[in-house]
Amino acid sequence: MAITDDTPVPVPVPVEAGAAGATPRPETAPGADPLGRRPNILDPGFDLTLRPMRYPAFYEMYRDAIKNTWTVDEIDFSDDLVDLDRKLLPAERHLVNRLVAFFATGDSIVANNLVLNLYRHINAPEARMYLSRQLYEEALHVQFYLTLLDNYIPDLAEREAAFAAVENIPSIRAKAEFCFKWMAAVGDEPLRDATDRRRFLMNLICFATCIEGLFFFAAFAYVYFLRSKGLLNGLAAGTNWVFRDESMHMNFALAVIDVVRREEPELFDAEMGERITAMICEAVDAEYQFACDLLGQGVPGMSVADTRSYLEYVADQRLAQLGLPKHFGSSNPFAFMELQDVQELSNFFERTVSAYQVGVDGDVTFDEDF
Ligand SMILES: [Fe+2]
Ligand SMILES: [Fe+2]
Repeated sequence: MAITDDTPVPVPVPVEAGAAGATPRPETAPGADPLGRRPNILDPGFDLTLRPMRYPAFYEMYRDAIKNTWTVDEIDFSDDLVDLDRKLLPAERHLVNRLVAFFATGDSIVANNLVLNLYRHINAPEARMYLSRQLYEEALHVQFYLTLLDNYIPDLAEREAAFAAVENIPSIRAKAEFCFKWMAAVGDEPLRDATDRRRFLMNLICFATCIEGLFFFAAFAYVYFLRSKGLLNGLAAGTNWVFRDESMHMNFALAVIDVVRREEPELFDAEMGERITAMICEAVDAEYQFACDLLGQGVPGMSVADTRSYLEYVADQRLAQLGLPKHFGSSNPFAFMELQDVQELSNFFERTVSAYQVGVDGDVTFDEDF
């Protein structure tokens, strides 16, 4: 995505208080160099200057995300409870148990990384507006899965065990440890040199393409597989919204990566490409172990082998989005996921203005498109 500042706005040059004459100083505070150049997006600091706006595309993403507001209260789980009670096979029930146990912590991990790493190091106020909105959406996802588990698991001891899955279920713990490893890899220091910046980029790429873009996309595949069998429509309805949010989160991160590539192309050398590919392969392996556990009892219509192909296909897509060669060469065996993008888009545009007004008081003007 091309990100250019096409909205030049004259900015008065501030003067030092009490200085004799007008002494120019950098228009941005920490992070700007002494010549007054605007910082690059990974230069350390907390740039506050919105005009001229360096990355208007991030502001547009923020505005688009606001249009996509939904609430957990809109989702009706009553059909799901009937399905869980009467329709699911034991192997499908096991799949659902594992899936919701993963959901219990996945978005909280992403939210923590957003605060601890992304918000700190992506130095543009318009990008931080988007991240603020994303943080809200991650909280909404956490609320959705919290409500889902409370509905799905009436037994309190079982519910407690599901929320503790990250401690107790090895295939979920392994995925969480993968996340924690890359979360901790950034360190606490400002991004002063190329080594620091590459470490942060690995974190950003990990959370966008391995966690939101692979772990969550695998989870969506299980949900839409069940929906294709007429099961758990409440879960699928909420997932439509989460799917859309996660796609936007990933696209934002990819756009940040494009900006960094433009500003500091030397960071993206061959070794970096190899490290990214190795990390994505590691994520595929972790997700595959989870698939073996989740599908271990033999779910009719969804094989472990097909799931492996799907994970490899998604991983190749992520590599291509990062400008790297595909690694696996697998095709997508899940037709129900091919349709998903189109269906989701139509669902989105079919929604009425009233849907966006849930929880909104006062005068609100919507764009003409809506
Ligand atoms: Fe999320
Ligand atoms: Fe997300």
